[in-house]
Amino acid sequence: MTVMPGLDSPLHLEMYRQFRRQNTLRARLVRAAQAVWRELFAPPIYGMAWGDPELVPPLRFIRDRYLTPYVNPAHTAVEIGPGGGRWTRYLLGFGRLYLVDFYAEILAEAKRVFRRYSHVYYIVNHGYDFPGIPPNSVDFLFSFGTFVHLELPIIAAYLTAMKTILKPDANVVLQYSDKRKVMAQLNPGFANTTPEEVRREVENAGFEVLEEDLTTLWHSSVIRFRPAAR
Ligand SMILES: C[S@@+](CC[C@H](N)C(=O)[O-])C[C@H]1O[C@@H](n2cnc3c(N)ncnc32)[C@H](O)[C@@H]1O
Repeated sequence: MTVMPGLDSPLHLEMYRQFRRQNTLRARLVRAAQAVWRELFAPPIYGMAWGDPELVPPLRFIRDRYLTPYVNPAHTAVEIGPGGGRWTRYLLGFGRLYLVDFYAEILAEAKRVFRRYSHVYYIVNHGYDFPGIPPNSVDFLFSFGTFVHLELPIIAAYLTAMKTILKPDANVVLQYSDKRKVMAQLNPGFANTTPEEVRREVENAGFEVLEEDLTTLWHSSVIRFRPAAR
């Protein structure tokens, strides 16, 4: 049963007074100066409009649970569909990082952003494969914001191609469209996939599902898996 705060509760006045403290003229001028500084000296990252994992709690959770724990300087990672590098920033601690994208024009943006990093390699693919990545060489594969736009046949083709490049104990983390969720239904650019379908494709392709997150994100879900023991 939900208990309403009593009439003597300070809850509402505290929330309102915090709002007033955060929006004094001085506080607003400081924020305006910070915004001008950012525009001049910190160029925008393509994709940040979809949410900054530093600032948006569900994205921060995804980063801290499904990405950061796997970063290892002795390991090799692949990111599919890096865009402007919103998530790539957190993958730079791998010893070798392949950024794989279907669109050369968009991959060029990632190249521009990460040009200082000599351990980052850029691969234009055919939309479902990993040309040039040696077999049995990848420890971690991550993709966010890309599989949400891919229908099952392309996901299946990617899963088949992944089998070749992954090491036996590799981890794969994919975020995909969850059409059971209203926010995915409202987005015509989101694929018609559900957790049941994606899980089935993953298992049919010879992987073992280790973890599924069906609740954190409002329009999609996350699956973590590895090659099934033979
Ligand atoms: C919406 S952006 C997301 C970018 C970034 N991951 C992010 O979350 O900010 C989608 C990215 O996937 C790439 N992409 C689209 N279809 C792809 C495919 N079949 N294979 C590889 N990359 C693809 C696009 O070029 C773009 O970089």
